[in-house]
Amino acid sequence: MTQRYRVNPLLSCSWQRDNPTGKLTFVALDPLSKLNCAIASSDFWLLELLNNAYHQSWTLQDTITLAEDRYKIEETQAKNALTRIWPVAFIEQSSFSADLEKAMPLWASRGAKLALEYFANSLRQKTAVSQSNVSNPNAGEVIPGAVPLPQPEPLPAKLLHEIFKARRTCRDFLGHQLKLEHLSFILAHALCAPCKNSAYSANAASLPEELVCHLFAMRVTGLDPGIYAYRPITHELGLVRALSSQALEQEMTELLIGQTYVVGSAAGILISGNLDRLIQNDGRQSTYRKWLVRVGSLAQRFILLGHAKDITSFLSAAINTQATRRITNGAVGGTVKPAHMVVFGGRED
Ligand SMILES: Cc1cc2nc3c(=O)[nH]c(=O)nc-3n(C[C@H](O)[C@H](O)[C@H](O)COP(=O)(O)O)c2cc1C
Repeated sequence: MTQRYRVNPLLSCSWQRDNPTGKLTFVALDPLSKLNCAIASSDFWLLELLNNAYHQSWTLQDTITLAEDRYKIEETQAKNALTRIWPVAFIEQSSFSADLEKAMPLWASRGAKLALEYFANSLRQKTAVSQSNVSNPNAGEVIPGAVPLPQPEPLPAKLLHEIFKARRTCRDFLGHQLKLEHLSFILAHALCAPCKNSAYSANAASLPEELVCHLFAMRVTGLDPGIYAYRPITHELGLVRALSSQALEQEMTELLIGQTYVVGSAAGILISGNLDRLIQNDGRQSTYRKWLVRVGSLAQRFILLGHAKDITSFLSAAINTQATRRITNGAVGGTVKPAHMVVFGGRED
C-alpha cells in the first residue's frame, strides 16, 4: 500500500538571517527532527498549500498534482520544491499520533526560553518580505547622543505556564526603580534586538518597519527621566523629550485619558505604527487586522517578559492621540498612530 503523509503539525516558519546586515531567508523548521528547509519567495505557494492540505493525507504525487492544478505551477518546479520540503513539512500518516504524543510533553515541559522563542517567531511573518529590500527608517541610522542599552540577560529558565499563572495586572505602583538591565531584557527579547545574549540574534531586524516603540522613563536606574525612541537594530535609545518624573506622570495620565494608575510606575512602552507606510507596503484588506493582532501579541510579550523578571505591569489601549502628539513632540500622533501602552512598575531590590 502506498504510504500516505500528513502536514507536520509542529512545523514552524520564520524569517532568519545570519547576521544583522545579511539577507533574510524564509525557513520552514521541524522542531522535533531539527530539519529545516529554506523557501524562496517564488515558492511561497508552498505555504498556502501546507495550510490548505493540513487536514488530509497525501502522497508526494498527490501534492505535485495539487500544486499544478491549484497554483498553476509547472510539474518540474512543483516536484523540486515539494521534494525539498517533504522531510520537514510532512510526516508519515502512521506515525502521526505517535509524533504528536512525543511532541505534547515536550511543549508542556518547554521552558520559558524556548516557548518565548516561539512567541518571537510570531513577529517574523510576511511583512518581513518588504524588509529585505527596504531599509527600516525607524531602526537603522545611528542617533547622535543615543543611549546604548546594556547587553540583555538571557531568558530565564522559568516555565512559561508559571509566568502565565503569576501574571496579574497591576494598577497600584509603589514608586520603585526599574533597572536598566531589566528594561534592556524586555525590549531586546520582545523585539528581537541583535544583542550578544539575545536568543534571537540570528534573526535580528525582524521588527516590521512600520512599528515604532517609545520608552517613557520615569524611574529607570541610570537613565534620565524623559521620552525616548527605541532603535532595535542598535538596541539603543534616542532622547525625544526630557522632563521630570512628576511631569511625565502627569503627561502619561493625560495620554491614557485620565488613568492615574501610572503614578508610581517606573516606565511605559508606547507601541505605535506608521499606518500609511503599513498600507503602502501591503495594500490588502487584511493588513490592518493583521497589524492589530501583531501589536496585541507584542504588548503581551512585553508583559510576559516583565513578569519573567517579577516586574508588574498594566496594559492600556485607551490613548488620547491628540495628547500623545503634543507629549511626544509630534513623534507619535500624526501618521504614526499609537496602539498600546504597557506600563511597568519597578522592583524593590
Ligand atoms: C487591548 C487591551 C486594552 C486594555 N486597556 C486597558 C486600559 O486602558 N486600562 C486598564 O486599566 N486596563 C486595560 N486592559 C487590561 C485589562 O483590563 C486586564 O487585562 C483585565 O483587567 C484582566 O486583568 P488581569 O490581566 O489581571 O487578568 C487592557 C487589556 C487589553 C487586552
